[in-house]
Amino acid sequence: MKDVYYPDIALIDTVRDETGDVKTLRMRFKNPDTQKNLSYRSGQFFEVSIFGIGEMPISITSTPSRKAFFELSVKNVGLVSAALHRLPTGSEVGIRGPFGNGFPYEEVFGKNLLFVGGGIGLAPLRSLINNVLDNRDNFGKVIILYGARTPGDLVFKDEFKWWESQPDVTMLLTVDRGDEKWTGNVGVVTTLFPRAGIMSKNAVAFVCGPPVMIPFVIRDLLELGFTDDTIISTLERHMKCGVGKCGHCCIGHKYVCIDGPVFTYHEMKVMTE
Ligand SMILES: Cc1cc2nc3c(=O)[nH]c(=O)nc-3n(C[C@H](O)[C@H](O)[C@H](O)COP(=O)(O)OP(=O)(O)OC[C@H]3O[C@@H](n4cnc5c(N)ncnc54)[C@H](O)[C@@H]3O)c2cc1C
Ligand code: FES
Repeated sequence: MKDVYYPDIALIDTVRDETGDVKTLRMRFKNPDTQKNLSYRSGQFFEVSIFGIGEMPISITSTPSRKAFFELSVKNVGLVSAALHRLPTGSEVGIRGPFGNGFPYEEVFGKNLLFVGGGIGLAPLRSLINNVLDNRDNFGKVIILYGARTPGDLVFKDEFKWWESQPDVTMLLTVDRGDEKWTGNVGVVTTLFPRAGIMSKNAVAFVCGPPVMIPFVIRDLLELGFTDDTIISTLERHMKCGVGKCGHCCIGHKYVCIDGPVFTYHEMKVMTE
């Protein structure tokens, strides 16, 4: 049986600057069989180690529908993320996982999907968005609402045109503060709601972003008719093992690393009661 504490080696194939402090790394496992057999759900994460420095949990931002590689988008916030940002292409990193439950996928076939992302929170959503758009016929209407602090903080800009061009997709962007080139919406992501054509009937909302954004988005979604079970989000906790042993990620009786990081709003409320 595979040792869950023992990382596999992956190679960095390409590095793309998303913003001043976010890079997207395209990687593949050094062992071709490990890459070929890689199977994951959107919303799952890897424990990523930089040898001699440390390990951190990072969502898989690529879609399981594209199999030759996997991608991680990482914000430079501290020790391990800074070390990863310094690595050139061709470098080796350690990868454990995939871990966590992931987003419901087959369970939302036939439904209208609303994605609400903020900042680097678009990283796990991007995996699901591309998985949905690669299998477009299985889903209803798709609405993508995304906000960042400034135009320079928007991630995955290269993909926005393709997302918008897919059938029955509405995509709206906003920033907290514009610049001289920005002609789009200015304001928090909920200011996009009135003109997005959101319908809560037969719909599920996926929400990922900074903790300050989540309660406001949930409040407005409930007003629009979404329920505690049709609002789905992710929780970020400090993690160590990623496999339900160390207890670092516990909230009440739940381990965010194995029971989550994806939870319905109903589950989140029960956990924090
Ligand atoms: C399931 C999961 C998925 C994640 N996915 C991504 C992702 O796709 N992209 C990405 O850039 N980041 C993601 N993160 C956050 C990422 O794990 C942390 O930014 C990373 O651990 C920081 O490590 P570091 O050594 O660089 O920073 P450190 O030196 O450990 O810390 C720098 C600062 O960040 C704070 N911090 C560290 N870890 C966390 C955390 N988990 N939550 C909140 N604050 C933290 C510290 O308290 C400190 O203030 C995810 C976290 C989880 C739990
Ligand atoms: S990270 Fe160790 S139990 Fe969840």
